[in-house]
Amino acid sequence: MSNTQPGSKTGAASPPNEFGAKILDLARQLARWSETADGLTCTYFSAAHKAAARQLCDWMRSAGLHAEIDAVGNVVGRYASDGAAKALIVGSHYDTVADAGLFDGRLGILTGLIVAEHLNRTGRKLPFHLDVIGFAEEEGVRFAAPYLGSSAIAGRFDDAILQRRDKDGVSVAALFQEAGVDRDAIRALGRPAGTLRGYLEIHIEQGPVLLERHLPVGVVTAIAGAARFRVTIRGVAGHAGTVPMPLRHDAAAAGAEIALAVERRCSGHGTLVGTVGQFAVPNGLINVIPGLCELSLDIRAGDNETRDAAIRDILAAAEAIASRRGVSIEIAEIGRHSAVPCAPPMRAALAAAVARAGIEPFHLASGAGHDAAIFAGLTDIGMLFVRCGNGGVSHSPLETITAGDADVAARILLDVVVNLP
Ligand code: HGY
Ligand code: MN
Ligand code: MN
Repeated sequence: MSNTQPGSKTGAASPPNEFGAKILDLARQLARWSETADGLTCTYFSAAHKAAARQLCDWMRSAGLHAEIDAVGNVVGRYASDGAAKALIVGSHYDTVADAGLFDGRLGILTGLIVAEHLNRTGRKLPFHLDVIGFAEEEGVRFAAPYLGSSAIAGRFDDAILQRRDKDGVSVAALFQEAGVDRDAIRALGRPAGTLRGYLEIHIEQGPVLLERHLPVGVVTAIAGAARFRVTIRGVAGHAGTVPMPLRHDAAAAGAEIALAVERRCSGHGTLVGTVGQFAVPNGLINVIPGLCELSLDIRAGDNETRDAAIRDILAAAEAIASRRGVSIEIAEIGRHSAVPCAPPMRAALAAAVARAGIEPFHLASGAGHDAAIFAGLTDIGMLFVRCGNGGVSHSPLETITAGDADVAARILLDVVVNLP
């Protein structure tokens, strides 16, 4: 794998797609750090996650940024303006889902890195600090604590996260204690609103819209807000051969009916979507009626009212299904993030740069959650989506973008940054 460094000088005239080619190469290099021999899995504070953080920090430094890894694992690189200046954050996350693609989150960090390297190499000063940030934990795979990294920097860290445990029973608090991280260290990461010029995130679309419209990029209008729940259903285990069907209290059958109720309620309502991503019969056996079933709920929409009405209906349906089937049910909410609009000034700045690049500015909503949402209300947020290949697939090793599209996104980001007052 070539060892393109962001700070390396290309001897020849700047080749076409220079930015894009570098971004894709760095993404491939970063994917070397994985928890699995095949594919990319990089979850919070694993050895691979820490190695990826060190790699990003090294690249930021070789690009001329002052870079550090902060108390919760965010990698923060600063292309400095003068001391009293505000900071524009350009960032995204470097943690991944299991068996992930190369670009979810990482594209946003690497695009910011390449732009900052170019500014440094060309000696272009900005009226604000440019902070390129790799957030440590957005997906929430290991501890069900999404946006842990960005919430610390936004000064919105939720202490309840400290009690979350991974599948081995390790808590976030124990992890931090071992790393010598206390609440004061986390609190010190918070950026006061007055110190921020804004927040920009370049992210793959993770859907087919730009692909179908033959557009390399799109300007994000709003970010959907997800609410997540854990559902535990307790029925009566029994012999699969001897218990007549009408006498059963089958926990998994109740879970399956609830999953179908989620699908029914969330279909045909615009941006509303509902997903049962985890469905388990712990210690289930082929000849035993399930006495226990655990499932997850992820309900989201472009606005909170639509989402919350669906949640009320789904929880009521789940209780009714459990009661009719004679099983008990516990529904625990594990997170709820507001749907947020992107700031009109940032949308306008992005759309103008898209137009200057000779591309039709197209505006679309994000069904996925992003670190950007955590900064809404604190500063102006903006997002630029980049076209996804393979039908728009994401959260999959089939996730793909082209060097050309990555190059377009980097040049648009550069244009926005140098023209932002
Ligand atoms: O779940 C999401 O929307 C994001 O990938 N964290
Ligand atoms: Mn993701
Ligand atoms: Mn993401």
